[in-house]
Amino acid sequence: MIIRLSKRLEQFPEYIFTRLNRTIAEVEKASGRKVLNLGMGTPDVPPSAEYLAKLGEFVKSPEAPLYPGYGASREFREALQAWYKTRFNVTLAPDELYPLLGAKDGTGHLPLALLDEGDEILTPDPGYPGFSGPVGMIGAVPVYYRLTEANDFKIDIAELEKKVTKKTKGIWVNFPSNPTGQVATLEELRPLVAFAKKHGICILYDNAYAEITFGGYKAPSILEIEGAKDVAVELGSFSKMYSFAGFRMGWIVGNRDIVAALAKVKSQTDSGLSTPLQKLGAYALSHPDAEWSKEMLKSYEERRDIIGKHIAKLGLTFAVPKGGLYLWAKIPESAKDSETFCAELLTKKQIVLTPGTAFGASGERYVRVSICANIDKIDEYF
Ligand code: MLT
Repeated sequence: MIIRLSKRLEQFPEYIFTRLNRTIAEVEKASGRKVLNLGMGTPDVPPSAEYLAKLGEFVKSPEAPLYPGYGASREFREALQAWYKTRFNVTLAPDELYPLLGAKDGTGHLPLALLDEGDEILTPDPGYPGFSGPVGMIGAVPVYYRLTEANDFKIDIAELEKKVTKKTKGIWVNFPSNPTGQVATLEELRPLVAFAKKHGICILYDNAYAEITFGGYKAPSILEIEGAKDVAVELGSFSKMYSFAGFRMGWIVGNRDIVAALAKVKSQTDSGLSTPLQKLGAYALSHPDAEWSKEMLKSYEERRDIIGKHIAKLGLTFAVPKGGLYLWAKIPESAKDSETFCAELLTKKQIVLTPGTAFGASGERYVRVSICANIDKIDEYF
């Protein structure tokens, strides 16, 4: 029997890292050698021992295996409210926040809450592929705005003015940026809030890398801008901040109408963030392990520099990122294109990089290099 699948499946690609992981498995089988995986950004610094011990306690409590109910537990809500106040001086009302099953739960489901077929959403190019896929899935249209080297990978409002139409409902914004590593100051974000208000569109601000910054730089929250909550929501992630990626924990904060709309969608697609994980999130947010965070950043910074030295030998050039977990590097002029460059590196040297085109057309002639990888044997690969 031929299974008749949905036409919708043709409207979006399979996620880049699902594809890449399959290719990696094939290459490892064919070469008999483990690849050096500088592809997906998987935070790999072991989490704080204190938090893991707490999680061990939390899973043993009698309510741990029960459905957690919908939305935030009181502990989770209060801890996130207190953290936002201390970290950003932003006050959140109880209905201005919601726990997520990772920030990707937000990027995946917000389009369902905001967009109808044919609606448009401004989307960074290059940008996180999780922004555009789910938009295409529901028949809405990502309209790409470019983050170019000439513009220091910053947003050009004049370009947005040209691309906004009557169908535009919102804009995806992500700083510290995956993949470019560029950051944005509040002064740079202010005109964006004004732009969104002028056109009656919302801002979906992905702040997943807010706590992964280097050289003393501190990333802001867009909600620090007065009146931002009229138009903006912000996604946060426990994955990068605490190395909890596999636990799938995140949050959305900001505009209460958007938060409620996403909660309605999620009421049909999942049954809430589990009680032990909400307890863990609340505990981590209210018991910072400053020593662990310092070491985590140091580890990425050291690996960033070691990996940087090695990829320079391949003719790759890049600016040192101010935040995030990646080097956004230009391929040599002699290389055909970024896909070919990565494919050859994988078959010839068993090194995995992500082709820049996985992040949009403007990623051509770039590759993204993850700095969270085991590099104990890096000398053997270069
Ligand atoms: C990345 O590698 O871009 C992310 O951090 C992991 C993901 O794809 O969600």
